[in-house]
Amino acid sequence: MAHGFSVEAFQARLGTRYVGRRFSYYEHIPSTQDAARQEAEQGAAEGTTILAVQQTAGRGRLGRQWVSPPGANLYFSVVLRPAAEHLRKLGMIWPMAICQAVGEVTGLSAQVKWPNDVLVGPRKLAGVLVDSEFSGARVDYAIVGIGLNVNFDISAHEEIREIATSISAELGREVAREELLATLLNRFEDLYEAARRGQPVHLGWKAHLDILGRPIRVKYREGVEQGIAEDVEPDGTLILRRHDGSHVRIEAGEVTLKG
Ligand code: BTN
Repeated sequence: MAHGFSVEAFQARLGTRYVGRRFSYYEHIPSTQDAARQEAEQGAAEGTTILAVQQTAGRGRLGRQWVSPPGANLYFSVVLRPAAEHLRKLGMIWPMAICQAVGEVTGLSAQVKWPNDVLVGPRKLAGVLVDSEFSGARVDYAIVGIGLNVNFDISAHEEIREIATSISAELGREVAREELLATLLNRFEDLYEAARRGQPVHLGWKAHLDILGRPIRVKYREGVEQGIAEDVEPDGTLILRRHDGSHVRIEAGEVTLKG
């Protein structure tokens, strides 16, 4: 497998106005999230994208590690400068864009596990990490980091092989990361611009959610809530109906499906 990533092949397929137009590429780096933050602090334009072939300290949500071996996958972070009202939408738009791009390039049907994991069947294909920095009430910048398992032999990684998957594992063949990344950034920019024009992005995201109407368990704040995932609000908040009929609104948490 070629470890390199062809920037030319990627750029040839990129159809965006600004997302991915400023592009930095590293063979290896601790985390693209930190590199993107540094660029944002120095005034990098919206859409600036940092890609690494390998991360030596890739991180996921909730302080977890993100397994980032060389060459097989996509690890990248994008600098965005949304208005505060659009910040929470990033956690819906990115997983939607991933589902659309994966569908378009591979034909695989991916779903969103609330709030923003992307799954194929029961296994995780991609994760989204949103970090943000404010100046008072204004968003200075957001850094969105995406890890997407593409041509990854999960069976070699015992710690995640039961819970994770990759495109090649699902498809039985490898796909070009360049085409996938360009398609994903194309889809993202369309959805992001639609959100900025005031279109309700949560409806498309909701259509990809796999939990609605199903019994779930959510680790939330210091405790655990159980019940039926009844609905989601336009900002992504989950409405859970407990077994006693009462409702609880959950803004962020870790969901497990219960059958
Ligand atoms: C999750 O826990 O689901 C989010 C995973 C985010 C991983 C990506 S890989 C590129 C970027 N750099 C990091 O260190 N993390 C994000």
